[in-house]
Amino acid sequence: MKIAMLARNANLYTHKRIKEAAEARGHELDIIDTLRCYMNIASRRPTIYYNDNKLPRYDAVIPRIGASITFYGLAVLRQFEMMGTFPLNESVAIGRSRDKLRSMQILARDGLGLPVTTFAHDPKQSEKVVSLSGGAPLVIKLLEGTQGIGVVLADTDRSAKSVIEAFRGAGVNILVQEFIKEAGGSDIRALVVGDKVVASMRRQGAEGEFRSNLHRGGSAHTVKITPEERATAIRAAKKIGLNVCGVDMLRSNHGPVVMEVNSSPGIEGVEKATGIDVAGKIIELLEKRAVTGSTKTKGKG
Ligand SMILES: Nc1ncnc2c1ncn2[C@@H]1O[C@H](COP(=O)(O)OP(=O)(O)OP(=O)(O)O)[C@@H](O)[C@H]1O
Ligand SMILES: [Mg+2]
Repeated sequence: MKIAMLARNANLYTHKRIKEAAEARGHELDIIDTLRCYMNIASRRPTIYYNDNKLPRYDAVIPRIGASITFYGLAVLRQFEMMGTFPLNESVAIGRSRDKLRSMQILARDGLGLPVTTFAHDPKQSEKVVSLSGGAPLVIKLLEGTQGIGVVLADTDRSAKSVIEAFRGAGVNILVQEFIKEAGGSDIRALVVGDKVVASMRRQGAEGEFRSNLHRGGSAHTVKITPEERATAIRAAKKIGLNVCGVDMLRSNHGPVVMEVNSSPGIEGVEKATGIDVAGKIIELLEKRAVTGSTKTKGKG
C-alpha cells in the first residue's frame, strides 16, 4: 500500500513507530506536514498540492491531527476522503471526538457510563450547576484543556461556585463533573484498534495528585482490564465512529465511566508499559480495511 500520514512532526515516537511498522510490512509511508498542504476545494477533480507538487494517490491516510490544528487538518483529511483515500479515522468521527460536549452527548445517548456531567453558559447559573452535579467535591474542566491543565478539583460548593464564575466570567467554556474519588488518582487508557482493545494501561497520578496525566508527573502501569471495561471502550469507539482511539475511563463504584475518547492517541506510553506492538496492529487494520473508495463519508462532509 501507499500510505500518507498527516502529521506536523515526523520525529515523534508515535509517528516514527507507525512509519517503521508500515515499512516493515512492505508498505510505503510518506509523512506529510498537514499545514503545508493546499487545495482547490471547488475542483471537480479533488487534488491536494504539497510544496510545488500534486500529491500522488494514496491507498490510505493516517490522520495525526493535533488539537490546535483541528480545523485545517480536518479540511485536508476531507480532501483525501473525496479522492477516495481510506482514512484510518474519518474526518467526521475526529470532529465528534474533538468536541467534548458533543462526544459525551453521543455516548450518553447510547447509555454508556459517564461521570455526572453538567454544562451551562450563564455564570448566574453556577449554583444550580453545582447542585445538579451532586455538590462538592466537583471537577471543573476547561473544554479546550489538555494534559491536565485546566482541570480543577473544588472541595466545597463555595469554591466550585467561584471557580465556575471565574471561568465563565472570562468567557471560557467548562464542564462540571462529579469527582470520582474512588478512582484514587488513576485512570485506565484502553487502546482500541478496529473492534478490539489491543493494549491498555493504568495511569497513576503522582502522590497527592488527582490527575493521572503523564505530563503532570503520573506514571504508566500494566493493568488487566475487566470484560466490562473492554466492552465499554469498544462501544465508545464505535459510537464516535473511530477505528483507532484511546478511551480514557475511571473506575467508579458503579463500573467504568468514560472520560474521553482520543482520536490521535500517542502510543509511546502504552507500548513501553506493555511491550505490545500497537503500531503493527494499526497497519494490520489498514491492510484489512483500506479498500480504495470505501470511505464512508465520501461526499457527505
Ligand atoms: N470526574 C473526575 N473524577 C476523578 N478524576 C478525574 C475526573 N476527571 C478527570 N480526572 C482526572 O484528571 C485527569 C485529567 O482530566 P481529563 O483527561 O479530563 O483532562 P485533560 O487530560 O486535560 O484533557 P485531555 O484528556 O483532553 O487531554 C484524568 O486523567 C483523571 O485522572
Ligand atoms: Mg486526559
